[in-house]
Amino acid sequence: MFKINDNYLKLPGSYLFSTIAKKVNGYTTANPQKSIIRLGIGDVTQPLAPAIIESLHNAVDEMGDAATFHGYAPDLGYEFLRNAMAENDYRSRGCDISADEVFISDGAKCDSGNIQEIFSTDNKIAVCDPVYPVYVDTNVMAGRTGTYDAESETWSDVIYMPCTAENDFAPELPKETPDIIYLCFPNNPTGSTLTKAQLQEWVDYANRVGAVIIYDAAYEAYISEADVPHTIYECEGARTCAIELRSFSKNAGFTGVRLGATIIPKDLKCGNVTLHSLWARRHGTKYNGAPYIVQRAGEAVYSEKGREQLKKQIAYYMNNAKVISHGLRDAGYHVSGGVNAPYIWLKTPDGMSSWDFFDFLLEKANVVGTPGSGFGPSGEGYFRLTAFGSYENTMEAIQRIKAL
Ligand code: MLT
Repeated sequence: MFKINDNYLKLPGSYLFSTIAKKVNGYTTANPQKSIIRLGIGDVTQPLAPAIIESLHNAVDEMGDAATFHGYAPDLGYEFLRNAMAENDYRSRGCDISADEVFISDGAKCDSGNIQEIFSTDNKIAVCDPVYPVYVDTNVMAGRTGTYDAESETWSDVIYMPCTAENDFAPELPKETPDIIYLCFPNNPTGSTLTKAQLQEWVDYANRVGAVIIYDAAYEAYISEADVPHTIYECEGARTCAIELRSFSKNAGFTGVRLGATIIPKDLKCGNVTLHSLWARRHGTKYNGAPYIVQRAGEAVYSEKGREQLKKQIAYYMNNAKVISHGLRDAGYHVSGGVNAPYIWLKTPDGMSSWDFFDFLLEKANVVGTPGSGFGPSGEGYFRLTAFGSYENTMEAIQRIKAL
């Protein structure tokens, strides 16, 4: 008789955003006349920029002609996109990353879940609390997290680094030494950032203790303040301790198109084995490359027109962030985030639990958000709203919340 990977059975409940979708579907079925505004999952709503659409159309036409047709993409990505990323995301910022250290994929969610495969199951992970649930859940599936304590909602073998208002939502160096450290800045869910000096401390720490940092930079495009680093490779020494994840979902609206990348510098080694070689082996074996059409669309993100158009798109979402932050403050809420990130993180009122506030907002204002506790125990008592809605819906949602 076959046996299953029973680590899956250790996972409590369903994936956070599936649970929310189920709850919202239940409510809309029971109340079909209500108009629901969804500011829960961080999914974009603006259409793809014209420069991207043009590039997609051209690539589709190429696929219809034998002379320009493309079959399997190169395992690690097309040179045109790897070069564009190395140049624009790194070298233009003075960071030493070359095109062959960029691995193109179909999105940062898969990469952030899959990257743990190249590490031993004995490794101990450290995560911010609250945290994007994919980092923890995929380590649970791999059997790396020990046992779950339902009371504290924590895993015995995970190091949690609380990020709350008390420490300005910035993790402190852990007391126990981790092997793998997950950091995401600008942060999902709190919308907080680290300054370059703060991030440098993490890089120095990781190099000192021999840990690797998995740095999720999915929200980089939303940075508006000068001392916030756009990539971990702005820090000295990051080439020997950090992997960076990049996404096209939030900067260019590719949530339904799917494109991302993982950066692994060749200096990042365990003994004399490079993590680059392991990820290349894994990618080559398990993955057949992001579609040509999509990689061409990704290239357009870096074109002059693309950049201009996307700057406007980000400004549009960040204006929503402002509407939410200001509106909530006017209504008496404690609010953070929303300055360098499309997420607004608020304290629930009157000591209400995160899920109680979720139900309250859904039922009384017909607005969907994300309960902070869904991201980890230190998220209890907090709630996340996204700036990714339309302007009209965002305004309406805030009016409804203010009227409560
Ligand atoms: C979120 O809402 O946290 C995001 O949609 C996560 C993701 O990009 O997968």
